Amino acid sequence: MKHPSFSRRQFMGASAAAAGSGFFFHGTGIAAAADGFPGERILTVPEKDQLRLLQFTDLHFFNAINKYPVREEYLRLKTIGIMRRLVDHARPDLIIATGDLWHENTDGRGMEFMHWAADQIAALGVPWTLTWGNHDDVDDQAAAHRFLTTALHSVYDGEANQGHHVVAVEMSGGKRILELFCLNSGDTGIKADALDFLSRYAEAYTYADGEAPLRMSAFHIPLKQYQDRWDDGTARGLLGEKVYFESEDGSALSGFVKAGISAIFCGHDHESDYSAFSDGIELIYGRATGYNGYGAETLDKGAKLYEIDTRTRTYRWKTLFPDGTTWQPGKDEHLDISEE
Ligand SMILES: [Fe+2]
Ligand SMILES: [Fe+2]
Repeated sequence: MKHPSFSRRQFMGASAAAAGSGFFFHGTGIAAAADGFPGERILTVPEKDQLRLLQFTDLHFFNAINKYPVREEYLRLKTIGIMRRLVDHARPDLIIATGDLWHENTDGRGMEFMHWAADQIAALGVPWTLTWGNHDDVDDQAAAHRFLTTALHSVYDGEANQGHHVVAVEMSGGKRILELFCLNSGDTGIKADALDFLSRYAEAYTYADGEAPLRMSAFHIPLKQYQDRWDDGTARGLLGEKVYFESEDGSALSGFVKAGISAIFCGHDHESDYSAFSDGIELIYGRATGYNGYGAETLDKGAKLYEIDTRTRTYRWKTLFPDGTTWQPGKDEHLDISEE
């Protein structure tokens, strides 16, 4: 039987109506809660030339589990398979899943879905964290924060700040390479609570020239400027659907500028993969990873790999596929495949 392919609209409508491989730890990172700022977790890695950060996004495990139970499990396990292969190719120091890990609180099972998703990511054997997506629903938010904070290999620390947290990555010699601001964009986009956390942390840590870590921020729902930079033609890559920035009105970006953020990466829109600079910040789409989410017929599922030079604290990114091949947009690539 042919199953329907989901457009975003059908996907959202349907959702409204409605094991891991063997453990192998090949990460060498050591995570510790910081004494200082609530919501900061320090990840210490060995001295190295390059720090590797792998972004999964929009896994959507358990989507349509009641309507298509066999297909749902098949797609879920297929996704786990490519996640394993993506990690083998990427050899990341840190994994971040930028939201929509599981799909809603169907029959009150959101916590169970979250546990399953966390177990699968933990089994990859790499320090990991997540940002909340609009579909990541549970009955008990406080219990979810506590679970995620203590989950195997997790560096999540969002309990004190509505999911907002920072993962600070340092090398064993003490050099701080990266401050990754992991924010909760809720159901409608970045709001005052996220910006308040961002500015409080940014102001608490000031650095001498040459000592400042790279600051990146990850969250689920894109800022309005993702649409603006596509529309003005400066974005490079592929647009497969309009930008669902929800009720974010473009005012948040200045907070990221003030906090010294160099790059933002998000998810939420499964059919776009591009980046653009706006007020000096690179706005980047992750590559959707989960077959349980819509969009596989438009963009092959994969992940985003950020390679950070630990000497210069500069980064570059590439989209990574399960077979180890990569993609980056060409210099003038600006292709609207949505035809909306
Ligand atoms: Fe999604
Ligand atoms: Fe989403």
